[in-house]
Amino acid sequence: MTSVPPNPPPGCPAHPAHESLHGPEFATDPAAVYRRLRDVGPIAPVELAPGVRASLVVGYDAALHVLRSTETFSKDPRRWKDLADGTVPLDSPVVPMMMYRPNALWADGAEHRRLRGAITDSVARVAPATLRGYVEASADTLIDRIAPAGQADLLGEYAQVLPLLVFNRLFGCPADYGERLVQGMSGIFDGVDADKANDLLATTLLDLVTLKRRRPGPDVTSWLMAHPAGLTDEEMVHTLVLLMGAGTEPQQNLIANGLRLLLSDDRFAGTLSGGSLPVEDALDAVLWTDPPMANYAVHYPIHDVVYEGVLLRAGHPLVVSLAAANTDPSLTADQRAGNRAHLAWSAGPHNCPAQGPARLIAAVAVEKLLDRLPDVEPAVPVEELVWRPGPFHRALAALPVTFQSAAVTSSTPSTVGDESPVQRTAPPPRPSEVPEAGRVRRGWGARLLTWWRGE
Ligand code: HEM
Repeated sequence: MTSVPPNPPPGCPAHPAHESLHGPEFATDPAAVYRRLRDVGPIAPVELAPGVRASLVVGYDAALHVLRSTETFSKDPRRWKDLADGTVPLDSPVVPMMMYRPNALWADGAEHRRLRGAITDSVARVAPATLRGYVEASADTLIDRIAPAGQADLLGEYAQVLPLLVFNRLFGCPADYGERLVQGMSGIFDGVDADKANDLLATTLLDLVTLKRRRPGPDVTSWLMAHPAGLTDEEMVHTLVLLMGAGTEPQQNLIANGLRLLLSDDRFAGTLSGGSLPVEDALDAVLWTDPPMANYAVHYPIHDVVYEGVLLRAGHPLVVSLAAANTDPSLTADQRAGNRAHLAWSAGPHNCPAQGPARLIAAVAVEKLLDRLPDVEPAVPVEELVWRPGPFHRALAALPVTFQSAAVTSSTPSTVGDESPVQRTAPPPRPSEVPEAGRVRRGWGARLLTWWRGE
């Protein structure tokens, strides 16, 4: 660290413009943006949404430095100066992903250890065999629904729904609570009546907490509240929102990005039925090259500081590019090959506390699908698949596939009708016909509810 240099003059050619991390261009080719940013330095200026400025950490060593130096970098968004002074409006699309809530993600020091301890200990109580059973049953329900059609969007009809079904079971949600949670979550994601949806989510989670305080069960909600960390009802609700948010969106993207790779990459072709190794390999490859949380782990310098000649201002958001760090050309082949030194789970005190369960959910979901629909193939060339715009996630907008339509064969009860004749039906829409991202988002809540109600 050195002394703080003076501010650059406006328009100075040595201080480049902010690269945009929103919009379709970044979504289509994020690697090109990361390459340009690397030319600027290990930490470079970006725009997360119109008018929302941040610095993106693109170097692997720089990422580890920020993630581990808790005395210099805080997770607490109440330090975010541009939000506090109104430069960033409260209704900016990135605010919900970056604003303060009283949970582990946004806490530092002892408070973080207390809130996180309750999560790690409770998640550790989930037996892998039980979790596997939940995932298999949920996967079977969903596959039973798509199997007769011979075509599906594996994102909207499988990867997106499965984590929610699993989480409702993990949290011990009675069925009617589950429906309200899905309704609340989907309303927030769809941006339709977001305030109402937020209220519904909060009330339902509070009802769940009240129910579990009265009648605890063998579930994560009950284990969290029985933990010596002594979470208040408010902390319980925010911790449950964190677990649902952290566990569903990245989880769906690991499943979908893993399936995309397995179905399209020659390195995995022909070995799909040969056991679990190719699936595990594909998940590792995705975690290296297309990590579900591409850019996140937002930190705020506690005071002005200089890192490798770059001034990092107190209260200015530093977003860690887990994706760019993973593909940093300075990483040696040794560092990259066969090990799990990638940053897809982040690093330091806030690294993902659910790595084991998250891998298990993804692996079982992928294996089950390939096992039940062995001839599944992409309905369009893989280069034509559309990625959803947004600075944080590496997320497909849709994953259309075709397969030989199959009878319902799962052992779990299904809501789908009897066997249908083996037939090929019309392929799903090509990406050019897939609605643009905003409309995809708007639609997914309604689709989830339809699934949930068995309509
Ligand atoms: C493939 C799936 C997943 C991926 C790629 C992933 C990735 C991550 C990453 C990158 C972080 C760091 C975020 C930050 O510092 O801002 C994180 C934190 C977290 N994740 Fe995950 N996660 C996944 C699944 C899950 C699941 C299934 C759960 C819950 C059961 C979960 C719970 C959490 C929690 C509670 C944190 C906050 C930890 C803290 O701040 O101390 N994640 N995850």
